Amino acid sequence: MAEGLFLTFEGCDGCGKTTVLKRVSALLEEKGIPFLLTREPGGSHIAEEIRNVILDRNNTEMDPRCEALLYAASRRQHLVEIVLPALKKGELVLSDRYLDSSLAYQGYARGIGMEEVYSINLFATSGRLPDLTFFLDLSPEEALERIHKNASREVNRLDLEKENFHKKVYEGYKILLKKYPERIVRIDAKQTVEEESKQIVDIILKRLKA
Ligand code: TYD
Repeated sequence: MAEGLFLTFEGCDGCGKTTVLKRVSALLEEKGIPFLLTREPGGSHIAEEIRNVILDRNNTEMDPRCEALLYAASRRQHLVEIVLPALKKGELVLSDRYLDSSLAYQGYARGIGMEEVYSINLFATSGRLPDLTFFLDLSPEEALERIHKNASREVNRLDLEKENFHKKVYEGYKILLKKYPERIVRIDAKQTVEEESKQIVDIILKRLKA
């Protein structure tokens, strides 16, 4: 059986990724296309436990390299437990964040260096890159405005970082977009959720046919 398609969704905090993913899922369901929607560390107990350590608001003194290693460890477990078995069965897998998050957040914004973070992630994923990545492009200013308006959203430790950090994350993603033009597709996140979701689903349908 042919391996399934592995698609990932990336963007800065507040870019609307979660909302768009919900709508994309609904559209795929309407079209009768089976898929697995997951998010790091979704559905893996061990990966979840690792993530809790990272996002704990008390862990403000966490070393950047330690954080990068924990994300990579959590990613490994989620990949092996959830993503790879589904792909092996030929399923379409949509993942809310994957290694590009580490490259932008830890590699670029935290200043460890993208190459170094890439190398530990290469180890963690055995080199399994996504087949296609959607980058939901919203400027950090607009993204932060959305976060502040959306009071119901849970505020995690990383949300509390300085605005400068969010700007750097965005710059990091822009670098990745240039570096991997074949793999990463830019989606204008200033559009309505409906427009964005339709654009994404059209691209997915084309890839499935190809
Ligand atoms: P989450 O609550 O999942 O936010 P979102 O809905 O925006 O994805 O928290 C994820 C946070 O962790 C977010 O600020 C991005 C950050 N992150 C990294 O810094 N590195 C990573 O490798 C991943 C997967 C996430």
